[in-house]
Amino acid sequence: MEKQTDTKVGCHRRIILFPLPYQGHINPMLQLANLLYSKGFSITILHTNFNKPKTSNYPHFTFRFILDNDPHDKRYSKLPSQGLGSFARIILFNECGADELRHQLELELSKKDEPPVSCLVTDALWHFTQSVADSLSLPRLVLRTSSLFSFPIYASIPLFHDLGYLNLSENNHSDYEASVPEYPLLKFKDIVKITSNPQGMGDFVTNMLNQMKASSGIIWNTFKELEESSLETLSQDFPTPSFTLGPFHKYFPASSSSLIEQDQTILSWLDKQPPKSVVYVSYGSGARITESEFQEVAHGLANISLPFLWVVRPGMVTGSEWVESLPENFKERVGDRGRIVKWSPQQEVLAHPATGCFWTHNGWNSTLESICEGVPMICSPCYVDQPVNARYVSDVWKIGVMLEDGIERVGIEMAIKRVMMDKEGEEIRERISCLKEKVNVSLDEGGSSFQSLNNLVDYISSF
Ligand code: UDX
Repeated sequence: MEKQTDTKVGCHRRIILFPLPYQGHINPMLQLANLLYSKGFSITILHTNFNKPKTSNYPHFTFRFILDNDPHDKRYSKLPSQGLGSFARIILFNECGADELRHQLELELSKKDEPPVSCLVTDALWHFTQSVADSLSLPRLVLRTSSLFSFPIYASIPLFHDLGYLNLSENNHSDYEASVPEYPLLKFKDIVKITSNPQGMGDFVTNMLNQMKASSGIIWNTFKELEESSLETLSQDFPTPSFTLGPFHKYFPASSSSLIEQDQTILSWLDKQPPKSVVYVSYGSGARITESEFQEVAHGLANISLPFLWVVRPGMVTGSEWVESLPENFKERVGDRGRIVKWSPQQEVLAHPATGCFWTHNGWNSTLESICEGVPMICSPCYVDQPVNARYVSDVWKIGVMLEDGIERVGIEMAIKRVMMDKEGEEIRERISCLKEKVNVSLDEGGSSFQSLNNLVDYISSF
């Protein structure tokens, strides 16, 4: 699975990386850090104590903890660790983190016993870091962890808000199903899912975009062949240098940065299942569903005849600790045909020959991981970029099907049948296999991602 990178060009220079402390952001940032390390750079990671990764998995990196070191500071000590409330840290630290970050960076820059610092790489959502980097004359590169094509749609949130697009009600069915005039690929029901706080999100996105424009460059976890037209549009509208060197997980898996222990026992159960027979269900690290949606998933999976592996993250079901609201008789009906785990070794599951399809929330990491293993998708997007990613999967690349009417058992059974049993599913599988091939070509020597990685290393070395 892992690609090798061997040329050591960044010797005696150091890069400081600062991920956003959420699973879908930590994974690609630490994978990028490993990539840069493999090119000869020393690595320092700035991180919050909240959601800190297992540092013993990274003995070759130096970690510094910032922003939430005081356990008595009520601004963050009482914030929830899960659910939407946990994201309040993004707003808080963007508002009040500058002085502490500047202090930490000054310390790093003054260290005589460590290699000199070439640049700072931060998650795009840490927009406050640009002015701090500028004040220290330190180049800042941005890592954007999502798709390229979702970027202009994010940028349009203030416009959508002004036009009243984000306040449409689900009850007005015809409006909800209609295409958005500015982006005909998307439906109104897609963009209303992006945010429940259009004003706040609009302001946030405007800040993020301005600080990305002011940065020295943007790194995307994607590959050129997947998003060629979006890349062209971006380079016209956004003159900042862009680097598309993904998918990062093809070099370094996400397992070492997993915040929850991955249940490895599931792999021996997969070994016993027929090829391409298992429906793998996971909604990533942050998405939540209601108790009634949870029961619909359970009925949908119980009603089909196929084996399934279902990840139910503790806290994922609103109002429940874990799986206590499963329907009566679920376990008896399903027996050993179905497995529920708290967290899976997702990349290994997707790469396993028994896995037949991935019912996903279309977080960008999950979407890329599915493409890389050629596994067709069933799409149940929740929020932010996921509805846009899902529309590309179902309507542009046609490598999955959308659960158009939300999570309910009849739609679930039909979607699984379309992907796993119908001719349509075979065609989907062929298309995603072609994309899988393209990924491999882009990562091979001379391919677009391979070249972009070398360009990035040269660019950083020129600072
Ligand atoms: C969110 C956004 O939707 C995403 O697009 C953005 O780039 C990051 O934040 P998230 O819910 O974290 O995403 O999902 P995703 O981007 O798919 O990342 C989840 C990661 O957790 C993946 O790398 C996946 O392999 C891993 N995972 C998931 C596991 O290791 N085990 C599991 O059981 C489920």
